[in-house]
Amino acid sequence: MSVDLPVIDLGDFLKRGRHNGDNDAAEACSAIAGTLQKNGIAIVRDPRLPENLPRRFVGLMERYFAQTDALKQPDARPEIGYQVGWTPSFIERAKARPDAIARLAAEHRPTPMHTADPKERFFASIGKKPPTTRFGWLNAAPVVPAAFPEWYDVTGAWSTNLVSTVYTVLEMAARGFGERDDLFTSFLEYGPHLLAPTGSNLAKYGTPGTVLAGFHDDLNFLTAHTQSNYPGLRAWTRKGESFFAKVPEGCILVQAGQQLEYVTGGSVLCGLHEVLALDVAQEKIRAEIAHGRVPWRISSTLFATASSDELLRPVGQFATDEALEHYPGILAGDQVARELEAIELVHA
Ligand SMILES: [Fe+2]
Repeated sequence: MSVDLPVIDLGDFLKRGRHNGDNDAAEACSAIAGTLQKNGIAIVRDPRLPENLPRRFVGLMERYFAQTDALKQPDARPEIGYQVGWTPSFIERAKARPDAIARLAAEHRPTPMHTADPKERFFASIGKKPPTTRFGWLNAAPVVPAAFPEWYDVTGAWSTNLVSTVYTVLEMAARGFGERDDLFTSFLEYGPHLLAPTGSNLAKYGTPGTVLAGFHDDLNFLTAHTQSNYPGLRAWTRKGESFFAKVPEGCILVQAGQQLEYVTGGSVLCGLHEVLALDVAQEKIRAEIAHGRVPWRISSTLFATASSDELLRPVGQFATDEALEHYPGILAGDQVARELEAIELVHA
């Protein structure tokens, strides 16, 4: 199970590539568009990402999730579908996907999952608030846990960096498709982007093969994360081949969400994935427990999302008659609400 995902450097585009005619940047743009089309995923290196920031962010979230549920409970906002603050274990449930699974060869089927996800999550809202919106509940003020004085600095630096990466990746992808640079980013200006780290307690859920997040795709535009502190992300290509995604240190994995599929009329498909506890993590889990620490798997996820009041529809070369029929216009806020209900974060 291996898929060749070369690391694509954003440096040439950032340095010179905004002027047309830079060959290295043009090659990188084509590579990003190509791998998003083929795999739904790209791995990139962004020279703007400070070297120690991923570790600081993961460290902060390890300490956050290691608190008792009683301490985290005040940070939960079930009344708005947990769209800011803490989501406890066994709340979010991946949608059943019998059709998608039936199309996969036996060795590429996802791990059966019959419960909601054991993972916990924290949503920190970021980005510019829209001047007016029909979707106030999707654009709520952030929760800032009082016990972490460095919270604002670390999460702020993290979100600024990863949002910049997402914008650059999307500009490069647009150029790689031969479109104007802002074809995709124009959807994101007032997007309710979320820092969305997950925490999975591997002392409880670390047995090899345990599903931490069931087979799903992401409802947003583009997801970004750096290397997790434990492996476990299994992703599927467009052709239905599954593989364990390896993110080299200092690199960023981006994965297409439903909204990017929508605006490309399916030219890019949102990437299916699941997260598992793995055999290779057992030694580290045992070592942590032996040192009296709880092993938490932390993902450093950021969800970049289209502005809630923006109409999602195929655009540019992707607006073919067939695509427009298959992906009829829908407000991003309505699409997000529909999906939140499907994964049981919101109850109608
Ligand atoms: Fe996901």
